[in-house]
Amino acid sequence: MTDPAIAANGLRKSYGDKVVLDGVDLSVPEGTVFSLLGPNGAGKTTAVKILSTLVSPDPASGEIRVGGHDLAAEPQAIRAKIGVTGQFSAVDGLITGEENMLLMAALHHLPKRDGLRVAAELLERFDLVDAAKKPASTYSGGMKRRLDIAMTLVGDPRIIFLDEPTTGLDPRSRHTMWQIIRELVTGGVTVFLTTQYLEEADQLADRIAVLNDGRIAAQGTAEELKRLIPGGHVRIRFSDPTAYRNAASALREVTRDEEALALQIPSDGTQRDLRSILDRLHSAGVEADELTVHTPDLDDVFFALTGGTAAVPDQPKEIVG
Ligand SMILES: Nc1ncnc2c1ncn2[C@@H]1O[C@H](COP(=O)(O)OP(=O)(O)OP(=O)(O)O)[C@@H](O)[C@H]1O
Ligand SMILES: [Mg+2]
Repeated sequence: MTDPAIAANGLRKSYGDKVVLDGVDLSVPEGTVFSLLGPNGAGKTTAVKILSTLVSPDPASGEIRVGGHDLAAEPQAIRAKIGVTGQFSAVDGLITGEENMLLMAALHHLPKRDGLRVAAELLERFDLVDAAKKPASTYSGGMKRRLDIAMTLVGDPRIIFLDEPTTGLDPRSRHTMWQIIRELVTGGVTVFLTTQYLEEADQLADRIAVLNDGRIAAQGTAEELKRLIPGGHVRIRFSDPTAYRNAASALREVTRDEEALALQIPSDGTQRDLRSILDRLHSAGVEADELTVHTPDLDDVFFALTGGTAAVPDQPKEIVG
């Protein structure tokens, strides 16, 4: 077992009277993607800033370790291992993309020749070669974002923090960014990602935490989170109307779809639940033509956990998969 890349216990932060983070625990294994979700103002950026040493946590916080180093004792060692792409671009619009890259290389104390090589490689990898000599102010939002991440990678960080990396990007640019993130993870990089797009967390994250009111309301894989809230169901379809009617009377609590000859039954999608449904059909002597399990999507989870109307688990839940 290696140490997690990022681990926080009882992370707290207040600004004056305002409690922003009220005891947040999280642990991110090396080489995985962790996504922090939460409504505007939930404290996502604050968490990123603390974990990346840009802002101090409250003294009442528990131990925080990043890249194997204690945040309070060895912030410099942590800074050498991480890269941060902030919510708001760090790109300087007055200079060219290439100059932005070389500036980063200089900040990392790379010798000039290495800086030029790394800049050229990253500009190529992020499809910015044609734009490299143009002022960054002329770049589109997607190009600026790519340049932002390219700049983050100059020091070859093993842990990167991406605060809303795809906000404002069109679907194609977003997919490009997802591909870039996947490639980083394949290369063993640990990614801590905040996002407003639940689909993004669903696509990329090994583990997701939902931040609400300064605390983690729930965390787990996307599938585990979806199972937390009601809305899951099983749909059973028949081609024979008689079988359909027999099944409808054999199963209780069904919603009928007469036109499609389909029945919908609330279900948590577990094996036990499915078996009980199948057993009841079997006892009634009917066989379904098709059975599909539907779980709620992450949007449902997000609304339920962050003050929507759906049923909310009233205790923070840690799901062990
Ligand atoms: N330097 C600061 N001084 C005072 N309050 C702050 C400071 N930084 C953040 N806050 C407050 O902390 C809360 C959390 O802010 P934060 O930027 O972390 O939220 P967020 O989850 O990133 O939101 P968004 O989705 O809008 O980016 C907000 O109420 C914000 O006003
Ligand atoms: Mg933010």
